[in-house]
Amino acid sequence: MVFTPTCYGVSCDVAALAELCHERGIPLVTDDAWGLDHSFSGQLPPSALRCGADLAIGSVHKSLTGLSQTSVLSVQGELVDRHRLQRCFELEESTSASTLLISSIDGARRQFVRDGEELLGHAVRMAERLRRRLDAIDGLRVVPPARLLGEAAAVHADPTHVIIELGGLGIGGYAADDRLRDEHGIDVELADHRRLMALVTFAHDEADIDRLAAALEQLAAEHAGAAGQTERIASPDTLLTEHAMLPREAFFAPSEMVRPEDAAGRINADIVTPYPPGITVLAPGEVITEPILEHLESVVALGGFVEGATDQALDRFRVTAQRPLSPVPPAGSEPATPPLGRPRVDP
Ligand SMILES: Cc1ncc(COP(=O)(O)O)c(C=O)c1O
Repeated sequence: MVFTPTCYGVSCDVAALAELCHERGIPLVTDDAWGLDHSFSGQLPPSALRCGADLAIGSVHKSLTGLSQTSVLSVQGELVDRHRLQRCFELEESTSASTLLISSIDGARRQFVRDGEELLGHAVRMAERLRRRLDAIDGLRVVPPARLLGEAAAVHADPTHVIIELGGLGIGGYAADDRLRDEHGIDVELADHRRLMALVTFAHDEADIDRLAAALEQLAAEHAGAAGQTERIASPDTLLTEHAMLPREAFFAPSEMVRPEDAAGRINADIVTPYPPGITVLAPGEVITEPILEHLESVVALGGFVEGATDQALDRFRVTAQRPLSPVPPAGSEPATPPLGRPRVDP
């Protein structure tokens, strides 16, 4: 299972992964939350299904026009047993399906099958306009899609996700996001510790783009000369840790709340996820380390929001009553024990 594209609009090489999986008879599942629009425009990256994914799960409300809570499962090929998929789906399904939501999925499907190329082409043009406007503002750096490629496993970048680096202004993304909302009535799709990301859609016109550019111009003017103050957060390599228990066991195990200073070396019981970008830093069953605690503390200090933690202010961590059997390895080293909970391949 791979999470691609990311909410920043960057996709990995699904075609290569699909080939590797298929050689071994394993189905490839993609979290296509941000990629449903890719099926409807030649100007966007190729869709997961076109690249050979067997099952793709996408949010109609994110990049198409579904009402919130509309997601679709798309399946192709023979590797996923559709009867089994149906049974699994029914385990979770409500017995009172919403006509409104299902109609909204069908309306979005119809709209994009019919007009997707034109609508998404407009979004790409509006995103280019935004890039041009922002490129002229001192202190802002708009990341060109091509710059994202070749880094780690990135092979495609969606041009409608406009990533704006604020490093030159000395203001963090969370604070800039608050100011855009409070002072200009503008909501961007995503903020992180040092960036904003505007998701430009077919519904935006020149006036919308110019309004955002003018708001950022004002922000940049107010922060001129503050360069270099933007905080950095930990590199992912320092956040590796050991899995001491299966996630399910840890989540349901007897637990207690401990202060951050007593949390290092204990087994985490929650799904601790700074959002955005929504990437879990501590899963249930993982051993809490000092670098992870410092990282989470800096995310909260910068104004980030941590989902999944019982105490979202992170004054306390929910940990299992049981302690890990082996000592915590130093950050970045190989886990002392083989990771638990590897998925069973059961086509
Ligand atoms: C990568 C990813 N997968 C899944 C989801 C959740 O999708 P949904 O909103 O359809 O529940 C999100 C939501 O932000 C996401 O970013």
